[in-house]
Amino acid sequence: MRITIFGTGYVGLVTGTCLAEVGNHVVCVDVDEAKIACLQRGEVPFFEPGLAALIRRNSAEGRLRFTTEAAEGVAHGRLQFIAVGTPPAEDGSADLGHVLAVAQSIAEHMADPKIVVNKSTVPVGSADRVRACISAELQRRGADIDFDVVSNPEFLKEGAAVDDFMKPDRVIVGTGRQASAELLRQLYAPFNRNHDRLIMMDVRSAELTKYAANAMLATKISFMNELANIADRVDADIERVRIGIGADPRIGYDFIYPGAGYGGSCFPKDVKALVRTAYDMDYAPQLLQAVEDVNERQQGYLYSRIQAHFAGELAGLTFALWGLAFKPNTEDMREAPSRRLIESLWAAGASVRAFDPKAAGEARRIYGERSDLVLCSKLEDALDGADALVIVTEWNVFRSPDFESMRTRLKRPVIFDGRNLYEPRPVAALGFTYYAVGRPLDSSASA
Ligand code: UDX
Repeated sequence: MRITIFGTGYVGLVTGTCLAEVGNHVVCVDVDEAKIACLQRGEVPFFEPGLAALIRRNSAEGRLRFTTEAAEGVAHGRLQFIAVGTPPAEDGSADLGHVLAVAQSIAEHMADPKIVVNKSTVPVGSADRVRACISAELQRRGADIDFDVVSNPEFLKEGAAVDDFMKPDRVIVGTGRQASAELLRQLYAPFNRNHDRLIMMDVRSAELTKYAANAMLATKISFMNELANIADRVDADIERVRIGIGADPRIGYDFIYPGAGYGGSCFPKDVKALVRTAYDMDYAPQLLQAVEDVNERQQGYLYSRIQAHFAGELAGLTFALWGLAFKPNTEDMREAPSRRLIESLWAAGASVRAFDPKAAGEARRIYGERSDLVLCSKLEDALDGADALVIVTEWNVFRSPDFESMRTRLKRPVIFDGRNLYEPRPVAALGFTYYAVGRPLDSSASA
């Protein structure tokens, strides 16, 4: 099939590449000239495991092409995917500006029937807005061309995006038209493992399914973070509680890890947007609001523990930070808990020595060169002369450190672990003061 993808961010690039990988001919369009030039050279503008090799191979074999020319993109594919960003507007709602600009440009260049597939995360009713935008432009041009707008939300996780796309749990397609449904069924047939993964529904339900999935996962995390805060106060160990409740298959072990709060480009933005949608419909979404509030507080968890330990005297101290990205296997720092923490430490007069296997460049791009942020290229270097270590992201390389060397490099043997990577008792036995999330420092519960 001939496919066009608008937007070369995580979703667009992974979608285009994986669709080319199974034999389709894909053109990816982006307005960002530097990004397209970089992709044409076979370079990937961000880190995502496995993606670069796939892009290079499919480009070399002639199935994947990149352009800034919307006209070329529109002429190419019967299927036109919209996979551009929907950043939060001032009031928390999703900003549809980029989505509608693509719709407009598809309508301006359209010369034959198209199926427009919306992959961007958009509020319920957005497909109708895309449809109205295209209709208005076609009418203005006096062109009578058939088109459909389909909702096909994406569920990939950064860091595992290629795998998630190639082996999906499910593919959601929302359309009211049989012909569109059939074409999408054919398109996704190569990704059916063991059984048909396609779930067909109406457009609005498909749009809401994306928000519902992210909100449900965010709810699990905020629930566990709330429980961790209670565990802290009643001297219980949240890690034991996690293992205890996860054994119930109705609860399950996934997404019940307490931590420094959820971040990234999806959960914070999508929960806020869903809250906004509900208020716009005169419904007060109490649970979703609480999910967001709990996360907001949790992103301050590490800082409040640090403040309590140092009795609020942080001026002049240096903190070693392990982990800048919002989660492992990505360089993405959007809404990362590390940012809130770093900025709070700076505001209190402290400075930071940070190590992250991938995100140092991103941190430099965000914060520029400054004397109170040293970006180290080795994890040990971040420890040198620091008053404490703070772990913000659970990269594998942090899981089994050399504690002896850590103790000699740090000025004081104190660890604030926002990801519960170690067992409190053995770490305490090595002479550290070890703070984890929802775990007692040293008590009967950690015996
Ligand atoms: C998420 C969804 O998983 C994905 O399906 C959707 O398409 C986009 O949003 P992503 O943002 O890439 O993907 O990251 P994810 O792995 O889901 O983690 C999100 C955040 O939750 C991270 O900050 C992570 O640290 C946090 N998290 C996750 C927890 O704090 N505890 C958990 O148990 C799981």
